[in-house]
Amino acid sequence: MKFFLDTADIAEIREAAALGVLDGVTTNPSLVAKTGRGFLEVLAEICELVSGPVSAEVVATDLEGILREGRFLAKVASNIVVKIPLITDGLKATRVFRDEGIKTNVTLCFSPLQALLAAKAGATYISPFIGRLDDISHQGMALVEEIRAIYDNYAELETQILVASIRHPLHVRDAALAGADVATVPFPVFDKIIKHPLTDIGLAKFLKDFEKVPGGLGIS
Ligand code: E4P
Repeated sequence: MKFFLDTADIAEIREAAALGVLDGVTTNPSLVAKTGRGFLEVLAEICELVSGPVSAEVVATDLEGILREGRFLAKVASNIVVKIPLITDGLKATRVFRDEGIKTNVTLCFSPLQALLAAKAGATYISPFIGRLDDISHQGMALVEEIRAIYDNYAELETQILVASIRHPLHVRDAALAGADVATVPFPVFDKIIKHPLTDIGLAKFLKDFEKVPGGLGIS
């Protein structure tokens, strides 16, 4: 499973990229607004830091507007993926972009049939929002499992499942178990995945015990 970072914060991206396990980045209008910076400026900086796919979302909701914005964003860098809301004109635009060779991430997916339509339209990625479903007492991960089962039934569907709206490490584990292609993870969750109290306790004991070894590691 690939790991994307769900943020527009350059410091977070820099830190995650330094780990060597970062495959890409997803942004959305809310995340960009949080930075207080201009969209294009932030986007160009992210694309310089990360060689993998970087999702940049359109804000138009009509076909002509989505096509205009998507084509514009796709020119910012060669690794831009145009993020499109799962609405009627968004699906139409997804097909046009597929034919033009522009990669797409169809976002705000909350049902398996929406995901099937996005795949038939030629989306590169589909983004089921699992945390927001959990928030309203629905099983977010069940959506991922259903999409996986449907896509696996039809070999011609090549869309990758990008699990979004992740809130905690168990979401990431369950996404991997469900066979998701990508999990886009907020930085605080990324950090929590690395850490385990037993790792810290075990390491402290190893280091303490090693103090008794005569000559230590032997490096002068
Ligand atoms: C995905 O691409 C979205 O940017 C994001 O995962 C939404 O997460 P939220 O529900 O925590 O806002």
